[in-house]
Amino acid sequence: MARKAACAEGKREGMATVAPTGGVVDALERYGHGGDWVTARQRFGWSDDQRVLDFSANLNPLGPPPAVTAVLADALRWVARYPDPACRGLRARLARRYGLDAEHLLVTNGGAEGIDLVVAATAPRRVGVIAPSFGEYEEAARKRSIPVIALVARSEDGFVPDPAAVVDAFREADLVFFGRPNNPTGHLFPPGWMRDVLGALWRRGTVTAVDEAFLDFLPDAEKQTVLVQVSDSRPLVVLRSFTKMFAIPGLRLGFAAGPRPLIARMAALQVPWSVGSLAQAVGEALMDETAFVAETRRWLARTRAKLAADLGCVRGVTVFPSAANYLLFRLDLPGATVLDLQEALGRKGILIRSCHTFRGLSAAWGRVAVRTVAENDVLVEAIRTWVATR
Ligand SMILES: Cc1ncc(COP(=O)(O)O)c(C=O)c1O
Repeated sequence: MARKAACAEGKREGMATVAPTGGVVDALERYGHGGDWVTARQRFGWSDDQRVLDFSANLNPLGPPPAVTAVLADALRWVARYPDPACRGLRARLARRYGLDAEHLLVTNGGAEGIDLVVAATAPRRVGVIAPSFGEYEEAARKRSIPVIALVARSEDGFVPDPAAVVDAFREADLVFFGRPNNPTGHLFPPGWMRDVLGALWRRGTVTAVDEAFLDFLPDAEKQTVLVQVSDSRPLVVLRSFTKMFAIPGLRLGFAAGPRPLIARMAALQVPWSVGSLAQAVGEALMDETAFVAETRRWLARTRAKLAADLGCVRGVTVFPSAANYLLFRLDLPGATVLDLQEALGRKGILIRSCHTFRGLSAAWGRVAVRTVAENDVLVEAIRTWVATR
């Protein structure tokens, strides 16, 4: 399933054995995620004016759109007031956009809060995940001592397991997460696969949480979303994020959509004023940024294809197909891991994600965000140079 690029330089075939290094305590991912600038700065001793290219967090390099700065400056007037605890303005905008009653919607403190709240509100006996996938699905269960059933998907199958095996594996789970597109693989469970698997789980009453944090990057996101299936008669919760598309990780904004009783339970468990007034104001303004989203989608399609082709031409690097704004790769170099590569690049001010923290992957796997063509070229050249020394 991996990309076979037409490469200028010869590629060495064959797979080296790379020892998994899960549990590395001083890893950049010590808090479970990429984009940890404080840890990186401490570790690599960057100066304050060090130019850093962050490929470890998957943020749109075209963002944030200019409206964000303007709205933030204006919204500063309201910081001496409490935010609307029910986020009524943004909820009404979302309801109109997606054709849902506002009571089907909950605005959240990033997509991450939606993940946490759906576990809290469902109180499942077991949570199901298809690994490798975003670590917070398991983390939200772990911190409540809820056992996790993890079905590990194989790269040879494009990370899409047999639907019957999925339905069977999760028979004891009351809540199952699906990342679509999935992180860190970037793959999409096909629409027919989703229909069959979700349908079977719903018939059993299992709550399905579909995490669409990266779906906005797809050219046909409006066709692919399962938001249209949200209703009181299906145990489906859709989790969304403003973070990735609009490059606003510092503001913390997302939303959840689902059956009204479940959304009400999630709202009841949410910390009061969880979403600040600055984030709410920005969210409302971002609902108008349809041209920015369209431009990002066009930019991503061509830029991701070039990065995948260039990276796939580096000796020992296999790149996997992605529908999202990041690429999963495997490094097959004897005696070398992505942690070694990450260390070498970090000293040059380039951050990449090692995937050793993802269940089902090891330190042979890495993930890079798609950034601007010029930045991607710097990344590929730095990886090529490092590989040449091995
Ligand atoms: C698949 C997935 N879902 C949700 C999130 C959380 O996003 P947010 O920053 O909006 O909380 C992330 C962040 O990396 C993610 O990768």
